[in-house]
Parts: sequence; structure tokens; C-alpha cells
Amino acid sequence: MTVTHVGVLGGGLIGMSWASLFLARGLKVTVVEPREGAEAEVTAFVAAAWPHLRALGLTQAEAPRQPEVSNDINVLADVDFVQENGPDRIAIKQDIVAALEAVIGTDVVIASSTSSLMASDIQAKAVHPERILVAHPMNPPHLVPMVELVAGRLTAPDTVDHAEAFYLAMERVPIRVKKEVPGHLANRLTAALYREAVHMVAEGIADVGDIDKAIAAGPGMRWALMGPHLIYHLGGGAGGYRHYLDHLGPTQEARWAELGQSPLTEGLKAQLVAGVDAEIGDESTEALSERRDAALVALAGLKRQHGF
Ligand SMILES: NC(=O)c1ccc[n+]([C@@H]2O[C@H](COP(=O)([O-])OP(=O)(O)OC[C@H]3O[C@@H](n4cnc5c(N)ncnc54)[C@H](O)[C@@H]3O)[C@@H](O)[C@H]2O)c1
Repeated sequence: MTVTHVGVLGGGLIGMSWASLFLARGLKVTVVEPREGAEAEVTAFVAAAWPHLRALGLTQAEAPRQPEVSNDINVLADVDFVQENGPDRIAIKQDIVAALEAVIGTDVVIASSTSSLMASDIQAKAVHPERILVAHPMNPPHLVPMVELVAGRLTAPDTVDHAEAFYLAMERVPIRVKKEVPGHLANRLTAALYREAVHMVAEGIADVGDIDKAIAAGPGMRWALMGPHLIYHLGGGAGGYRHYLDHLGPTQEARWAELGQSPLTEGLKAQLVAGVDAEIGDESTEALSERRDAALVALAGLKRQHGF
């Protein structure tokens, strides 16, 4: 099935980013968003994203294309794929699915961007649950290519195949997660690291800024290129991953036993926020996002150049 018209349900941070990507790839895009003033915000977001999308080679068009933006879900009657980006609450997602099913065709895929909810729960009350899956990106999805696909208990296998083909056409890197688990795949990995990053602050082991610097100047340099398994294959030298596991596996296990978890008390939250305030100084969030986005575009080019 060819997708030419995508519905973007929920035009917040993630919806606006998806919409920008889909427009760049030449699709007709209709955004449904109840927020007052959404059309102007979406237009501004797409305009700001466009130079990056061009630099990434995702579009040749000089002028940003624009989506239709409406607060009426009925405008989605003709779409052939839906990317759902509403609030991350199961009752709201189920209501959104019910509202969508009253409007869209029975075989139109509904792909939810949810970071935390299970496809099985989102599809639980659906009339056609077989066309519903999780397609979870990392922020911002127009610049970070991974999208993890998770089927629910009632998702048809060809829904996942169809979604995978769609995201490949969008120049994304789809990952198939074989079992439903909270946090899917990528957020479980980031949560494992973040738990320890918070715990180290709580324990007074290091300041927020130094923990962030340790990652960005240390393992984060490699993580943009390869994951932990391949990294430790290289860490094993000539003996590869087998040597690494035999040689340094026991010290990894000893560290795993030491990792901690601190509750996010109000006091700890204040400490974390103060740490980030000190880290960013007087740079605005907008300026920091723009520097991040420009660097992500350059990084994508470097990765391509070096075969990663
Ligand atoms: N923010 C992230 O880093 C991130 C990353 C990956 C995935 N996600 C997921 O993406 C989804 C959206 O998150 P977000 O960060 O864009 O949140 P957000 O609050 O920026 O956007 C949600 C939008 O949905 C709109 N909305 C509310 N009810 C609606 C309805 N009934 N129909 C249509 N739109 C409705 C809201 O007005 C809001 O603009 C969530 O499921 C979240 O888990 C977020």
C-alpha cells in the first residue's frame, strides 16, 4: 500500500516534528491539534526545520511545504497512514483511537508515538486493533532517525511490515522490538543510564554538569556510531567481544551489582534543575535546541561519510 497522505494526530512537540519530516518526503500532511494558535506554531516549526531537512537530503524543495492544520478530526477521512502523538495517557489514547476509527478507513495503520504505553492497551477497545502498533521515535523525530516498532497482542504482522516500509521510505531507521515491555527498547536503555545519572547526584558522587560532560565527551562520542555490544567488541582488542566478556565481564557484573536508584524527591528534583541551570548559564532553550539540531545534521553527514 502506498502512503501519499498522512494524518498527524496531535501537533505538539513530536507531532510538529513528524509533520515536518513527512512534508519533506513529499507527502500530503494533515495535522489535527486542538491547541489555540496551532496552525501558526506548526507553520513556524516546519519553516525552522526545513533548512535541516534540506541539508540532510530529505527534500530538494527550497520553500517549506505546509500541512493542513485543523482541530476537526473529520479532516482525516482520506488519510492512508496515521501517526498518533496525543498526550501519553492510556484513556486519552483509547479515546483518540475510537475517534479515529469513526473517520478513517478500516485498513489505515495507526502508529502511536507513545514513549511509555503498550500497543496492546492502546488497541484494547479498538474495532480494528490489527492495524494499530507503537512507532516510537526519539525527539526530534525529523533529525533522529530511529523509530522502534512494537506490535500489540492483536496487531497483524503485515501492519508491522507496512509500517516498516513506510518509515524506510521516510529515511528512518526502524527497529523491530520482539516483545512488549514498558519503555520499549530505546527508552529502557536511556532509563538505565539516567537512573544512575540521577543516583550519582543524590549520592554526591559528582555534579550534574560533570555527569553530563562525562557522557558527552566520553561514551556519548562512541554511542552516536555504535551500540554497547559493538563497542565492547572493539574493547576486546584482537580477541574481540569474546575476549572482552571473558576478561572484563566479571568487573561489569560487579558494577551492575553496585548500581543504585534514588527516589525523585522534591529536594533531589531541585538539585537536578539547579545543576542544569548552572550548566546552561544564560543560553536560552531555543538557542541550545538550535545548536543541537545543527550539530545533529552535521553528525548525520559524518556518519554517512564514514559508513555508520
Ligand atoms: N517529548 C518527547 O521527548 C517524546 C519522544 C518520543 C515520543 N513521545 C510521545 O509522543 C507523544 C506526544 O508527546 P509530545 O511530547 O509531543 O507532547 P505534547 O504535549 O507536546 O503534545 C501533545 C499534543 O496533543 C494535543 N492533544 C490533546 N488532546 C488531543 C486530542 N484528543 N486529539 C489530538 N491532539 C490532542 C495537545 O494539545 C498537545 O499539543 C506522547 O505519546 C509521547 O509519549 C514524546
